[in-house]
Amino acid sequence: MQVDVLAAEDLKKTAPVFGQLSFDNHEQVVFCNDKDTGLKAIIGIHNTVLGPALGGTRMWNYNSEWDALNDALRLSRGMTFKSAITGLNLGGGKAVIIGDAKTQKTPELMRKFGEFVHSLSGKYITAEDVGMDTEDMDIVREVTPYVTGISESKGGAGNPSPITAYGVFMGMKAAAKYKFGSDDLDGKKVLVQGIGHVGEALVEHLTNEGAIVYISDINPTRLEEVSAKYGVTIYTEDPYDAEVDIYAPCALGATINNETIHRIKAKVVAGAANNQLQNENTHGLLLQERGIVYAPDFLINAGGIINVYAELEGYGKQEIIRKTENIYNTTLEILKTAEAQSITTHHAALKIAQQRIDDRKRENLK
Ligand SMILES: NC(=O)c1ccc[n+]([C@@H]2O[C@H](COP(=O)([O-])OP(=O)(O)OC[C@H]3O[C@@H](n4cnc5c(N)ncnc54)[C@H](O)[C@@H]3O)[C@@H](O)[C@H]2O)c1
Repeated sequence: MQVDVLAAEDLKKTAPVFGQLSFDNHEQVVFCNDKDTGLKAIIGIHNTVLGPALGGTRMWNYNSEWDALNDALRLSRGMTFKSAITGLNLGGGKAVIIGDAKTQKTPELMRKFGEFVHSLSGKYITAEDVGMDTEDMDIVREVTPYVTGISESKGGAGNPSPITAYGVFMGMKAAAKYKFGSDDLDGKKVLVQGIGHVGEALVEHLTNEGAIVYISDINPTRLEEVSAKYGVTIYTEDPYDAEVDIYAPCALGATINNETIHRIKAKVVAGAANNQLQNENTHGLLLQERGIVYAPDFLINAGGIINVYAELEGYGKQEIIRKTENIYNTTLEILKTAEAQSITTHHAALKIAQQRIDDRKRENLK
């Protein structure tokens, strides 16, 4: 057993970046280091065919640099397909900062990170993600224009999370329509895993519609707060065993994996987290075989990018809402396409996104 572990570690060292499992022809990977502020960040630029690579910055206390790199690679790739399927003229990028956002995030560190973003001359445009908020982006804005998700008072479109949650809600309703014959979530049991910026806003939509909501989080204070505010039930057991109709992953990625997939009782998976399928081929297929409808994450969590894209294109709230509501139609279309073509919903969405990128690439070559 130990030999296997060592071999895997050695393998990582011989192909540290281009040989990573998550590497998918990324155009550029930038490692950023600053001794004075303690900044250690990785910016992944996956694809810029449709436009500049836009994607948020995540600050997380990764177990290892490998985990951070793989997150940057996976998340930036996801952004490429998210923008492509949403019809935005944006490429895919994402940044990760290694560290604890609660204790290690300082204005100096954020400014230094902004300088690294600026050094890429607009090829990568940042925004907030887990561990970041609009105030952090406002600090980044002091040193670079290549940032979105800044405060409304500073001319930005504000916190994208409520719009992301609205898009997830739309995608969830479409998946419910497909699976249960009605998109009315009144009386449906929904487990929301991760009740942060997006999860809480999703809980609000769900309770307004009359869904029976269960919440799960690693932060007990958040659980108490959200439970008291919306009158929802804290789920104390392992969330994958929950007897619910809908499972909404809104924490981190890869929660649908070999450990969990056979335990999921829900008939619909629809949530905000990026990269929910640990392996998009095998786990997508397993969900399909188990009759569980999976609303592709990068499709239904696009509300946030629609919101920040408004800052670049100059469209207003009404257009943001219209574009986000359209996630309902796109989701339903993709679910039907997947069935008609006997492919997974994830692949159906990926195919359409890839087609748009390929078409643009051909146009660009003309
Ligand atoms: N914020 C956006 O607009 C946006 C847009 C698209 C996708 N997403 C994705 O949605 C997810 C949530 O984003 P957010 O902005 O709400 O982040 P957040 O940091 O505000 O919230 C994440 C929550 O998940 C909880 N959590 C972490 N690990 C957990 C675990 N193992 N089990 C249960 N709970 C856990 C945290 O305690 C926190 O409450 C992320 O995957 C993010 O990439 C967010």
